[in-house]
Amino acid sequence: MSLQSTLFSGCSPSGTLTLGNYIGAVKQWVQCQDDYDGIYCVVDMHAITVKQDPYLLRQRVWDFYALYLACGLTPDKSTIFIQSHNPHHSELTWVLSCLTMFGEMSRMTQFKSKSRKHESTVGLFTYPILMATDILLYQTSLVPVGKDQVQHLEITRDLAERFNNRYGSIFTMPEAYLPTEGAKVMDLQDPGKKMDKSSPNPKSYITLLDTPDEVRAKISKAITDSQGRFDTGEELSGINNLVTIYCSLTGEDRSFVINQFEPQGYKVFKDSLVDVILAHLVPIQERYHHYKEDHSYLEQLAKEGCEKAMGKSKVTLDKVKEAVGF
Ligand code: TRP
Repeated sequence: MSLQSTLFSGCSPSGTLTLGNYIGAVKQWVQCQDDYDGIYCVVDMHAITVKQDPYLLRQRVWDFYALYLACGLTPDKSTIFIQSHNPHHSELTWVLSCLTMFGEMSRMTQFKSKSRKHESTVGLFTYPILMATDILLYQTSLVPVGKDQVQHLEITRDLAERFNNRYGSIFTMPEAYLPTEGAKVMDLQDPGKKMDKSSPNPKSYITLLDTPDEVRAKISKAITDSQGRFDTGEELSGINNLVTIYCSLTGEDRSFVINQFEPQGYKVFKDSLVDVILAHLVPIQERYHHYKEDHSYLEQLAKEGCEKAMGKSKVTLDKVKEAVGF
């Protein structure tokens, strides 16, 4: 029985895992493994809130699973599983749905922006309830998320509190865990938007599986600043985003990096940035290919991961069922 606090996070397999997901999420997860009881999930049930090709979805789920491992998550230290393999997520989501107000769901900003691009299904609308389930099912204390997910975490806390008040203290109250540097990596072509794995323009993001040539081409075409500045004073400038990527991968201080590269210009900086990115990506890709070679081994790991997850989620779900009168 572990005495460490539980940390839960996940990425949706709706595209290929990007450098933004790595810097903003997976890299932190790996660092947290020794200090927390980490649960890391491929959230495929969230993925189908927008239309997916079934064949592609299944491929991506396994790619994500292999990439989680390749990035350094290990089954010895963490619970790594695929959301749809654990039916407890659907079960608790229904109960929480019956505690959620239509009005509070209507205020979710992510739904408003996503429903402009996708069919406005009820699943897309209730996406935050499924996310609350993910978190509450495992008595999670900490949730490493990007800034764009903070609103979802707040609704999770509201639901936990409402449930606990109505039925007795069953859920742990989770808190957001925001990384300091590089919490949010922006689109390489439109630095006003978050780097998004489902963007239609592949030049706008770098995936963990991009080849060195692709990385070089995308960084060389990435938006910088028309006046050649390194410190534009604007939070959402292209160059600022590239410096963020550089600093979060090297751990170097922002002003140190700016002072070092400002006299040399963008070309030298971008070349150096490509080297830094590839130094991370190439070993991840080697490990990824190693996992992908043996699908039955991956399946075995996912099965064990799911059993471990279900062992934990069953304890919570049993209490919930008892409390609500099932
Ligand atoms: N909604 C999250 C995102 O888009 C993914 C997610 C689903 C998640 N369930 C979660 C993140 C639970 C943290 C905890 O990034």
